[in-house]
Amino acid sequence: MRLLFVGDVVGSLGRETITTYLPKLKKKYRPQVTIVNGENAASGRGITEKIYKGFLQDGADVVTLGNHAWDNHQIFEFIHDAKKLVRPANYPRETTPGVGMVFVKVNQVELAVINLQARTFMTPIEDPFVVMDELITEARQRTPLIFVDFHGEVTSEKQAMGWYTDGRISALVGTHTHVQTNDGRILPNGTAYLTDVGMTGPYDGILGMQRPAVIDKFKTALPHRFEVVTDGRAMLSYCVIDIDDQTGKAKKIEAQMISPDRPFRD
Ligand SMILES: [Fe+2]
Repeated sequence: MRLLFVGDVVGSLGRETITTYLPKLKKKYRPQVTIVNGENAASGRGITEKIYKGFLQDGADVVTLGNHAWDNHQIFEFIHDAKKLVRPANYPRETTPGVGMVFVKVNQVELAVINLQARTFMTPIEDPFVVMDELITEARQRTPLIFVDFHGEVTSEKQAMGWYTDGRISALVGTHTHVQTNDGRILPNGTAYLTDVGMTGPYDGILGMQRPAVIDKFKTALPHRFEVVTDGRAMLSYCVIDIDDQTGKAKKIEAQMISPDRPFRD
C-alpha cells in the first residue's frame, strides 16, 4: 500500500494549494490512501465542516487534526458525523467528542490511521505513549498496517515515539512545527519515521502567519495577534510511504515540498 500524507494545511491559501496540487500528486504517485492534516485549515485555527468536506472532495481519504482541533467551534457540531476525521486520541476520553483512530479499507487491505498529540510545551493531556500502546493493540486485531500522525512541538519527543513504536506500526510522521525535516528513514524494525512533514500554505509568512506581528512579538515580548497570510506565494509539504501489505512493515519513505523554489514535476 502506498500512502500520501500532506502536512498542516494553513488557511485559505493552504486550501487552494490542496485543490490545485492534490489531484496532481495523486496522479503522480498513485497512492491507495491520502491523508491530510487539517488542524490549521480554517484561518490557521481549526476546521469547519465545509473545509473538511472540501478536502474529501479534493481527494483526501482521511483528515487528521492536532492541538488547534477545537479552535473553530463548528467542530463540535459535525465531528460526531465526520467518519474520516481523526482528532488526537489522547484527549480526555470521557469528555472529548470524535475518535482518535479510523480504519480505511482498500480492496482487501485495511489501514488504521491514528492521530496523537505530544505533551512537551503543549497542553498536558493524557500520556501519548500509554494511549499509543492501547491503540496499537486495538488496531492489530484488525490489521498490521498502522499509520500515526504524531502532532508535537519538540523533535526529541517525536523521535522517542518513533523508536518506541518501531516494529509495531508501519509509519509515524510528525506534524505541528510547520517546518519539514530531512530525516525520513525506515527504523531497524520496519517503521517509517519522519520528525515533521511541514506545512501547506503561505510560502512567505512565518509558519503561515503574517511576518510583522511575529517579528514584533520577538522584539518586544508583548502579546500580538497573529493573522494568517491569505495571498501571495504558496507551498505544499508532503511525504509518500510504501508499506508491505502482508507484514505492515514500511519499505520506503520520501519527504518532498512543492514551492516556488521547488516547482512541481510530473
Ligand atoms: Fe498544531
